[in-house]
Amino acid sequence: MTTPHTVEPLRALLLEAIHPVAAERFAAAGIEVEQVGRALEGEDLVSSLKGVQVLGVRSGTQVTADVLAAATDLRVVGAFCIGTNQINLPTATRNGVAVFNAPFSNTRSVVELAVSEIIALTRRLTVQDDAMHAGRWQKSAKGSHELRGRRLGIVGYGNIGTQLSVLAEALGMHVRFYDTADRLALGNARRCRSLEELLADSDVVTLHVDGRAGNASLFGEEQFARMKPGSIFLNLSRGFVVDHHALRAHIESGHLAGAAVDVFPQEPKSPGEEFVSELRGLPNVILTPHVGGSTEEAQQDIGNFVAGKLRDYAAEGNTSLSVNLPPVSLPRALGTTRVLLLHTNTPGVLATVNGVLADHGLNIEGQLLGTRGSMGYVVTDVAALDSDDVVDALRALPETVRLWVLR
Ligand SMILES: NC(=O)c1ccc[n+]([C@@H]2O[C@H](COP(=O)([O-])OP(=O)(O)OC[C@H]3O[C@@H](n4cnc5c(N)ncnc54)[C@H](O)[C@@H]3O)[C@@H](O)[C@H]2O)c1
Repeated sequence: MTTPHTVEPLRALLLEAIHPVAAERFAAAGIEVEQVGRALEGEDLVSSLKGVQVLGVRSGTQVTADVLAAATDLRVVGAFCIGTNQINLPTATRNGVAVFNAPFSNTRSVVELAVSEIIALTRRLTVQDDAMHAGRWQKSAKGSHELRGRRLGIVGYGNIGTQLSVLAEALGMHVRFYDTADRLALGNARRCRSLEELLADSDVVTLHVDGRAGNASLFGEEQFARMKPGSIFLNLSRGFVVDHHALRAHIESGHLAGAAVDVFPQEPKSPGEEFVSELRGLPNVILTPHVGGSTEEAQQDIGNFVAGKLRDYAAEGNTSLSVNLPPVSLPRALGTTRVLLLHTNTPGVLATVNGVLADHGLNIEGQLLGTRGSMGYVVTDVAALDSDDVVDALRALPETVRLWVLR
């Protein structure tokens, strides 16, 4: 009979100047934290991950298949941002490494930018501001409108689209939306059966669709031509969904009264690189450098949210809202030892696991199984373990991918 391992404190490595609130949350949970202000790559990253169970990155650190294969202590990676393209998800899943992100921490920031742009464009603020700075006093009501009573068409009624819907109604706008999925209409918003129906009827059209490949060039000449004369267009979703050549033509012809664009098909990689776009130099067109979600509040919220998810996984095994593992969240039974087992999703694993526990005379106090694709995850609370024999037996099962014990 082997005696139980001593419990070492967990170690976290936080890269790329993640908001300090994350380190505070880890420290409060007894997790040792090392912080590095920049991204790490390849060998540097692998050697820094020795003895590290929790890794926090933003978009600059590439967590490749090689890094994941070499980082054998790693249990969980947190993307302190929205996207997870920088992490090799299939390999993370195969290796039983959980991945979390912050899918809606900057939703409010994007919505507020959209609202401010809708007001600014509808009142032609940038045109008036340009004229004033050039010494021209152009006092006129022509082309300026109140938002009250105007029609807002939201394309993509997800996290951002729905929250914009609520705020726009509070400003007196009439909201209609188009979404390819079934979505509950909030407040007095009206669902359109087609994009064409929405375009024909909206004073402002704003895109909030996700980045699925099928949305490439979703909005081009045909869609701009269907918009009402004098209407306004916004895109704060993804750069590749809009044909900027067509947008420029419709602004120059005067068919559209204005536009705001925050995302571009090609974006500069660093602040020093020139921003090249067909949309530069157009009147009543607001261009922003992909800052829809970039506020101090959003950064803090991301730090808090992702750190909380990583802590819940490291300390409790909870995977709710994980990007890649089955969602399992089991309240801990008092005074128990928790066994976390990631396994291949094949028939009979649960029965085998419970057989091993029974063979070692262990009573199950609580248990929950979740599956997702090729991966299964079972969380089991048993009376306190006084030996590691059962752990060794579970680890030796051919279906076991990763196993650890929370005492
Ligand atoms: N500008 C920024 O800084 C910034 C910040 C955060 C998010 N975003 C982007 O905003 C977009 C929306 O984010 P979210 O959190 O609301 O996403 P979400 O996944 O909650 O919502 C997207 C919605 O779009 C719908 N949809 C997808 N394709 C569609 C189509 N062709 N026509 C109609 N509806 C369609 C989906 O069914 C879904 O309801 C994403 O592309 C996201 O990357 C940008």
